[in-house]
Amino acid sequence: MTKYEKKNQVKNVFDPIAESYDFLNHLLSFGIDCYWRRKAVKLTGFKKDAKLLDVACGTGDFSIVARNKGKVQDITGLDFSKEMMMQFVKKAPWINGRLVQAVAEQMPFPDNHFTNIIVGFGVRNFYDIPKGLSEFYRVLKKGGKTTILEFRLPKNRFIGLIYRAYFHGILPVIGKIISKNDESYKYLPRSVDEFEHKVDTVKLLKEIGFEKIQVKMLTFGIVQCVIAEK
Ligand SMILES: C[S@@+](CC[C@H](N)C(=O)[O-])C[C@H]1O[C@@H](n2cnc3c(N)ncnc32)[C@H](O)[C@@H]1O
Repeated sequence: MTKYEKKNQVKNVFDPIAESYDFLNHLLSFGIDCYWRRKAVKLTGFKKDAKLLDVACGTGDFSIVARNKGKVQDITGLDFSKEMMMQFVKKAPWINGRLVQAVAEQMPFPDNHFTNIIVGFGVRNFYDIPKGLSEFYRVLKKGGKTTILEFRLPKNRFIGLIYRAYFHGILPVIGKIISKNDESYKYLPRSVDEFEHKVDTVKLLKEIGFEKIQVKMLTFGIVQCVIAEK
């Protein structure tokens, strides 16, 4: 698949499910997704004057946790799906910041602009992952941190079997019934498999120039939290 094809494919995955995204996210993860974002915010440890960019912010759940738990005041959200960001605005009109419709691979911000970048379950969907992460490096200030949450496959074979049965068998069926969209919840397990086999986040971040890279695996290794500094 070309980058152009992936970009269009991903847009067609998220636009149609924007309204049911939050409900399904919490249902299909049994609410653990809220814990993953809280944990990532705690591990990051935002400073009081943080200037935060939430890339692939979607419906805003990561920003909301950064605001409520991390006490971050200045938040910019970026996503290429207007439909997803409209849910963010509906849900949290009180957030002090701005939303920008753009792609991670070409961000309309100056160099050395933000103290922090967060991205929750977004990197896997970028149509050009190295380019997206290079943009993170460009727009971060020296000493700034990026915090990446992304799905991974569990290493334990027994957990792996259960996870696979759920992720490939049950999840797409429930997702289809509730979102009334056949493709979007088939894309999720497929994209996680592909990401696991093709993308080494730590290696990429090192190649780009990031330092002090910390990795924390969460919930039997199904989610990876990577924190790296410019
Ligand atoms: C799984 S959702 C994650 C939303 C949110 N961060 C969360 O934690 O729930 C992925 C989001 O990434 C966005 N996205 C995918 N590829 C993108 C890209 N190349 N540039 C900007 N946003 C992108 C989608 O529109 C979608 O809103």
